[in-house]
Amino acid sequence: MKVVAGLILVTGVSSLPGYKTALRLVETKGSVIGVYNQHPVSGVPAVKWDLVSDATGLVAQYKPSVIIHIAGMGDVDGCEVNPELCHRVNTVATRELAKAAYRIGARLIYLSTDYVFDGSRGMYRESDVPRPVNYYGLSKLLGEEAVLAVGGAVVRVAWIYGFGPGKVNFGKSVVERLSRGEEVKAIVDQWGSPTLNTLIGEVMARLVDREFEGVLHAAGPRLSRFEFALAIAKFFGFQTSLVKPISIKDLNYRAQRPRDSSLDSSMAVKMLGVPINDLNYALSIFKGEWEGLRHAGDVG
Ligand SMILES: NC(=O)c1ccc[n+]([C@@H]2O[C@H](COP(=O)([O-])OP(=O)(O)OC[C@H]3O[C@@H](n4cnc5c(N)ncnc54)[C@H](OP(=O)(O)O)[C@@H]3O)[C@@H](O)[C@H]2O)c1
Repeated sequence: MKVVAGLILVTGVSSLPGYKTALRLVETKGSVIGVYNQHPVSGVPAVKWDLVSDATGLVAQYKPSVIIHIAGMGDVDGCEVNPELCHRVNTVATRELAKAAYRIGARLIYLSTDYVFDGSRGMYRESDVPRPVNYYGLSKLLGEEAVLAVGGAVVRVAWIYGFGPGKVNFGKSVVERLSRGEEVKAIVDQWGSPTLNTLIGEVMARLVDREFEGVLHAAGPRLSRFEFALAIAKFFGFQTSLVKPISIKDLNYRAQRPRDSSLDSSMAVKMLGVPINDLNYALSIFKGEWEGLRHAGDVG
């Protein structure tokens, strides 16, 4: 592995993708510092910093060679309820980071989302034109523009699942509930590309070695949540009849959801050699991590 000269800053280290990214970079590269805001982490070097108050000061203080910007307001309905906060976290803080990175010549890699698309078609490629249907998607798209303006890389992922810090995620809930013999309700009529956090970490670690500029899709295969839950049940050896179909209409989401925001990640697979869209590969890592945690007594 190539060692990057200088420091790599990873914002959002207290999120599912940020933690695994920092962990992988600590294993494979030079010095790494994670940045959290309200939730301290252990196992990787990290500092507390509020990016909304002062993104510029963070860059001025640490003078990184690379910034992997993962922090964001990922609560889609929360963004609809509080668009001003969403704008400050996802758009303004990203713009400030981009300007500060440009000033010192640091490379910027930004984690973005499938929700920049309207979901009318699915299997979106990097060249497809975004058209967000909710405030979260819009705020992330505006963040992307700032990153691209300074020659950075935008990595779009989707429906993140895995073990680690951060908010509740569907894949982990499915494993926990099915392992206890409890039912899981899963949507049949919305499609996306569930992406394992550990593989996002691997993609980021490999991207650090490249001079890539532009947009890259790096997500899992196209599935509904129902198909995803069934695949987990089969792979882990749980009872598939515990997975019950529901419609997106049964849930009263505040924000509109794209109906099919699945991503075509063939370019990332070819370029980086990470089979991020291979479901069995992802589930074998996910299952191995679950068994490790069970062995250590960290999950029920
Ligand atoms: N969840 C998904 O399926 C999904 C899909 C595509 C892309 N993403 C992207 O993944 C990233 C992480 O989101 P998540 O969904 O995993 O949500 P999350 O668990 O709520 O993580 C949000 C992260 O951002 C940090 N953060 C928020 N406000 C901050 C501030 N003012 N200053 C510094 N750090 C701040 C949080 O730090 P603290 O917790 O320490 O406050 C946390 O590390 C976001 O960029 C999101 O757009 C998520």
